[in-house]
Amino acid sequence: MMRRKLVAGNWKMHGLKADLGEVRAIAAAVPAEVDAALCVPFTLIAGAADAAGALPIGAQDVHQSDKGAHTGCISAAMLVEAGALLTIVGHSERRADQHETDAQVKAKAEAAQKAGLRVILCIGETLEERDAGLAEQVVTGQVAASLPDGASADWLALAYEPVWAIGTGRTPTEADVAAMHGAIRAKLRELIGDEAERVQILYGGSVNGSNAVALLGCEDVDGALVGGASLTAEKFVPIIEAAASLSR
Ligand code: 13P
Repeated sequence: MMRRKLVAGNWKMHGLKADLGEVRAIAAAVPAEVDAALCVPFTLIAGAADAAGALPIGAQDVHQSDKGAHTGCISAAMLVEAGALLTIVGHSERRADQHETDAQVKAKAEAAQKAGLRVILCIGETLEERDAGLAEQVVTGQVAASLPDGASADWLALAYEPVWAIGTGRTPTEADVAAMHGAIRAKLRELIGDEAERVQILYGGSVNGSNAVALLGCEDVDGALVGGASLTAEKFVPIIEAAASLSR
């Protein structure tokens, strides 16, 4: 099964209007062989969507309710109106900082899909969990508990992001990445059958221009979710190029 590679940037809490030039430069550099996307702060979605041309712009979170008394939250319909085509859900920073549970992540993914957004659902173990030999159990448990009802590759991708690899410059070995992605796909197969073969499983955590070919070339790795190295075209385009080179 040949899955297209997807390279998505997660700008986290970075980005002002002054940075829209980077969005334009990234958008101009995406080759036909790969899919790319940029998930920016809520405040930058409309501006980025205007600047991005064919490059899909996304959010980094969404509320699970359509509307209501949820001060400071943003609904899926609001994201769509602002110009978003996708959203991340379940990022480990939100699971840790905002105490988001698997059940909430599942509900967020379902709300996003209902509004017509694509979804990148994040999973990943902490260092303590890996050191305790629990990494696969934790991650496949997150898949089982947060996978939205009706999950389909038409709108859902997963991103395996080991918490200890995010922003640290550390990455798992290629063998560990391949093993985890294989375990995630096996769990998906259990849950959604043959559809599992079509679902893109991205790797995230300290991806850069130097390690992208090795990480994206691993078995069952269908792209990358990139934080720090997605903030400028200079750093992000080489990762997109790496994905394209593996698709030619
Ligand atoms: P870094 O690429 O900065 O390690 O961040 C990864 C990440 O959390 C993307 O969602």
